[in-house]
Amino acid sequence: MRQTKRRHLRIGTVGIVVSAVCTIWAWNTGNVDGAAQDRHRKEKTESAIEETKTKGFDGVDFSYDVFGVPPEQDAQKAAEEAMAKDVADKPRVLARQKKLLAERYELDCKTAAGVTMTKGKHQPIGPAVTLKQGLTWDKLGQMEADEIRAEKLFPGGFRRLPHVKHEVGGQVFPQIQIKQFPRLERFDVDFDLPDCFLPEFPPPIFLTTHPELGDVSQGEALHAENFDRLFRGLVTPVQLDGLRLLVTQFPEEEFNATHDRKTVKPSLGVSCLDCHVNFHTTAQFHLNPDTRPQRDRLRLDTVSLRGLFNQQIHGSKRSIRSVEDFTEFEQRTAYFNGDQIRAIKKGAHVIDRLLVPHMAQMQNMIDFPPAPKLTVFGTLDRKKATPQEIKGEELFFGKARCVGCHQPPAYTDHQMHDLHLERFGAEADGPIKSFVLRGIKDSPPYFHDGRLPTLEDTVEFFNLVLELKLNREEKAALTAFMRAL
Ligand code: HEC
Ligand code: HEC
Repeated sequence: MRQTKRRHLRIGTVGIVVSAVCTIWAWNTGNVDGAAQDRHRKEKTESAIEETKTKGFDGVDFSYDVFGVPPEQDAQKAAEEAMAKDVADKPRVLARQKKLLAERYELDCKTAAGVTMTKGKHQPIGPAVTLKQGLTWDKLGQMEADEIRAEKLFPGGFRRLPHVKHEVGGQVFPQIQIKQFPRLERFDVDFDLPDCFLPEFPPPIFLTTHPELGDVSQGEALHAENFDRLFRGLVTPVQLDGLRLLVTQFPEEEFNATHDRKTVKPSLGVSCLDCHVNFHTTAQFHLNPDTRPQRDRLRLDTVSLRGLFNQQIHGSKRSIRSVEDFTEFEQRTAYFNGDQIRAIKKGAHVIDRLLVPHMAQMQNMIDFPPAPKLTVFGTLDRKKATPQEIKGEELFFGKARCVGCHQPPAYTDHQMHDLHLERFGAEADGPIKSFVLRGIKDSPPYFHDGRLPTLEDTVEFFNLVLELKLNREEKAALTAFMRAL
């Protein structure tokens, strides 16, 4: 019985590995003929749906799950075997992702003197996305969507960025943070993007209630042991209690106290501010809970919570309408891949609805970083801006049509938009929230999955996708404008 089960496990694992390899392969290739490509894609999705029905994903395999192990099996041993397999697999998993990144991006990050984030870390300067040999951005920008699709010239870096271990997913934290908080280390995967493409750690914190104080973080990352010292007297007792909950670790799929976890030692879980470090982000990621099959789930790069008070929809796909609801559901559903049964098994903490508003009130007090060149309307002060920034602003509000979806003061329209990347032969992402651009220099990498490492990449992306045909000076001006926001 036990033998058979193991064999099934082995066959299942082989199946998952093979399908993952096929998926990555499929992401990297495409068919020349559009109709055949669409048919092929439909068939692939249908077979992935079948697979999800029967196998779930790696984490849902019952032989991994202490609660699903039949009584005659040793749960501890099953967990140890699962961990040994994950650890043995890790080099292959990391090498696969490294290869994918090296194919898509120039990973030696460029910087420039004086071009920094709020606290002084250099901003990465791009484009870091690479093009097929012989192609230039100017040439690509002049081509039509059909031609790009037929010739397979849409840059790999403009396509979906997969999770390091997409078949399993789950939360992954950058090395610089793990150094300070070793409890955030997983045994099966490591963070994949180079440090220079990440925001500053720890990021500064600005309160809407105290603009005169500037950064109130005192250079520390907020956590359970310092939040009271740093924030008592600065915020109301209700907000302080909200902050307490935001730094409290709650169980999560990979970080929990059961055998079925991805940390060597049992864990109490993760806190909200483990990902939204100091209410911002340092590019922690996981998979979205909204999509199935597993193959099609989106990698999600943690968003900043700065300026949450000025936004009416939350989440790239869920479009949740209040900070309170997002706060509640983040922990109850996203932490467990949108599966409430696993949430109960692993100890999901249902936060009383009386306390959720405490957390929301604290989150709603976080401001964007200062932007000294902006007026009260959120547009450039002509006396302070450079000619290049002014030109960029004119393009943003004119020829480049960015304002259609990004309106001041936060530079969002509170809508979801479908950019129809399938026109170019890429995966169709469907509607995604137009993220805010205020303070955008502080939060690389860009897009819901972090596929675009620099602001230059975002301009090249929209130049192509909106068919703008901007010249080099115009593109540089747009980037300069965004750096001033
Ligand atoms: C894996 C790290 C991670 C953890 C832990 C986490 N979040 Fe998030 N959070 C994200 C990501 C990624 C998004 C973007 C979701 C999307 O695009 O659908 C997000 C989005 C949000 C948003 C919506 C922001 C917007 O403008 O759309 C809120 C509010 C939020 N999180 C609050 C919380 C709270 C409260 C907690 C703790 C209960 C928490 N988060 C824990 C990663 C995390
Ligand atoms: C049709 C609506 C639309 C237009 C027009 C548009 N955007 Fe966006 N923008 C979006 C959406 C949707 C996203 C999120 C895409 C994603 O994550 O997949 C986004 C994301 C971005 C981001 C990344 C934000 C982040 O936090 O990661 C930047 C930068 C950006 N847009 C700049 C621009 C510029 C510059 C222009 C004009 C050249 C422009 N956008 C025009 C809808 C639009």
